[in-house]
Amino acid sequence: MHFLCASNDLAEGHSRAFSVAGIALFGVRRQGTVHLYRNRCPHRGIPLNWAADSFLDDSASLIQCAHHGAQFLIESGECITGPCAGEWLEALDCREDSQGIWLTD
Ligand code: FES
Repeated sequence: MHFLCASNDLAEGHSRAFSVAGIALFGVRRQGTVHLYRNRCPHRGIPLNWAADSFLDDSASLIQCAHHGAQFLIESGECITGPCAGEWLEALDCREDSQGIWLTD
C-alpha cells in the first residue's frame, strides 16, 4: 500500500495528481468516494493535464483531457466523447481510512 494524501487534501468535486514509484496517477472525489486512475489518456498515451491537479471539466462532473478534449465518466473512466470514445482510463484500487487515501494496487 502506498499513502497518497490526507482525506482533507482531496476535497469533494476536486482532482489531484500523485506520483508513486515514477507512475503518474490522479484521484477525483465525487459524492464522497475517491476514484483513482493512471494519468494516461488512451488517445495518445500522454498525461491528461496541463495544469497541476486539473483533471475535470468546468462543471467538475467529468474527467477531461486537456489535449483534445476527451471526456470520461468519473465513476468508471469510460470515455464518452472525444477521439478515444469507448476506451477507458486505467482504474487503480484505492482505499480511504482515518489516516487518508491509499493506493492498494
Ligand atoms: S491525448 Fe487526450 S484527447 Fe488526445
